[in-house]
Amino acid sequence: MKKIIVAIDGFSSCGKSTMAKQLAHDVGYIYVDTGAMYRAVALYCTQNGWMDEDGMDVESIERNIGDIHLAFKFNQERKAEIHLNGKNVEHEIRTLDVSNGASRVSTLRAVRRELVRQQQMMGFEKGIVMDGRDIGTVVFPDAELKIFLTASPEIRAQRRMDELRAKGEEVLYEEVLANVKERDDRDQNRKESPLKKADDAIVIDNSALSIVEQQEILRSLFDQKIKL
Ligand code: DC
Repeated sequence: MKKIIVAIDGFSSCGKSTMAKQLAHDVGYIYVDTGAMYRAVALYCTQNGWMDEDGMDVESIERNIGDIHLAFKFNQERKAEIHLNGKNVEHEIRTLDVSNGASRVSTLRAVRRELVRQQQMMGFEKGIVMDGRDIGTVVFPDAELKIFLTASPEIRAQRRMDELRAKGEEVLYEEVLANVKERDDRDQNRKESPLKKADDAIVIDNSALSIVEQQEILRSLFDQKIKL
């Protein structure tokens, strides 16, 4: 059967990974969470003292970007987890601090260039569902199916807060909402590959959709593309 590339872009915390992961599972494709890659780079930069709340040591980050080795490996439940220089950091990268760091480090041209190169290699044989901010515009401008997923900032903040609280992180709704808005602003207004809808992307606003409903929409779009 014909294999395609599915590119899913959109704002932070709008459920891109849930959507992408489920589709990849259902159709037997590889799923790549590119946000996890930027998060892992941010973690590495923080651990090495090249980034803190006050700023970034851009020169050191650019000089050392080649030493950051990222890989996705399956855990026992067949869920892909990110490894940074051989160490599983899947849980460590899911905090609010790392979210902020990822949003900042992803503004750097050298970081984007390297991660985009790795992502393009992963999709070389197609049969891949990739989610991020620039997948349909920069990484795979020729992807057969492009989705731009969105939801209101308030709904996204609520979902994000529920997720963080479920993991035991004590956070306030206002804090999470401010973080969501700050990241939207940075993602949309950065100079390097800002978040924007590709001209040929299909917009799905899932503010009022259940996970099952959004999955049905995506699956039917996928099936149409496969038949072409
Ligand atoms: O999807 P996420 O929240 O895990 O992404 C973390 C940050 O990484 C987000 O602020 C934007 C950035 N990012 C990006 O610039 N390009 C991508 N393809 C994926 C994520």
